[in-house]
Amino acid sequence: MRGHTGAMTDAAAGKGGHAHDDVDWAATAATLSGWDELEEGRNRAIVDWLVVRPGQVVVDVGSGAGGMAAALLDAVGTAGTVVIVDGALELLTVARRRVERRDHHLVAVHADLEHEPLSRVLDVRPVDLVHASAVVHHLDDEFAAIRALVDVVRPGGRVVVVEGGLGNRFLPDDCGIGEPGVEQRLAAAQDAWFWSEVRPAGATVRTGRGWNVLLAEAGLLDVTARSFLLDLPPPLEESTRRVVCAVLAGQLARVDDRLGGEDRATLARLLDDDDPQGLMRRRDIFVLGARTVHVGTVPA
Ligand SMILES: C[S@@+](CC[C@H](N)C(=O)[O-])C[C@H]1O[C@@H](n2cnc3c(N)ncnc32)[C@H](O)[C@@H]1O
Repeated sequence: MRGHTGAMTDAAAGKGGHAHDDVDWAATAATLSGWDELEEGRNRAIVDWLVVRPGQVVVDVGSGAGGMAAALLDAVGTAGTVVIVDGALELLTVARRRVERRDHHLVAVHADLEHEPLSRVLDVRPVDLVHASAVVHHLDDEFAAIRALVDVVRPGGRVVVVEGGLGNRFLPDDCGIGEPGVEQRLAAAQDAWFWSEVRPAGATVRTGRGWNVLLAEAGLLDVTARSFLLDLPPPLEESTRRVVCAVLAGQLARVDDRLGGEDRATLARLLDDDDPQGLMRRRDIFVLGARTVHVGTVPA
């Protein structure tokens, strides 16, 4: 496995991404990287809770900009291996640059998991733990996706699925512009976008049950969950407010046609660097959100 350090295998060459999900992951690289900086402490807390050990082989599926993979690589140390798997080559490159370090073993695999089973694209075995955060919900059949994760883990190893939790909040309820509650309406619009664009009824399989039940039905034992807060109270550093701006701008771009004119105008003012009420000039912006980590063990 040492020979794999820094390797990039390409199972998705020529594949065009997702059938229905029109998220442009490459365009989100800068925002995901900025967000990873904010999440560093939470990622380490999750890795500590999972008790990832030196020498283990860990796979991070849908690794994004590599924030969690960096924490995992620190935990497995020079004797272990981290494999990052992602369908967006640009993100995989960003992640590899972020995570790679001397004498550590990192393998990058480019694969569109909608078309390439994980078991086929992964040539590193045995796997002690597979971690998949905010990616299973992008695959057409979530239950099949979980079973594909289970398939690659050794008996006694663990499958970690990070899904659900609570969306991130940044704004005071009354931010002094427009009607109070704009962030709740933005969240509702995002929810509607998610169910019509990311998980459209015709093109994706509805599970009708929670993540813990899906993990148990996929054959995992001792299924448990814990939620981890990201709690950055105000006032935020300028660099953190810049990340919040990028996240809000991305949300607005996705759902502006689902918002009323007044809310669109409010968000445009909040995102305007020159507006005295804008995010970059405010002392009352915060970051508060929660990720739920579901984990189960493959029967020995
Ligand atoms: C919302 S981001 C999550 C990033 C990171 N795991 C996190 O939790 O912050 C989803 C990631 O899954 C990847 N992804 C989405 N659909 C995929 C697919 N069909 N095959 C492989 N990767 C996919 C995206 O490229 C992106 O890196």
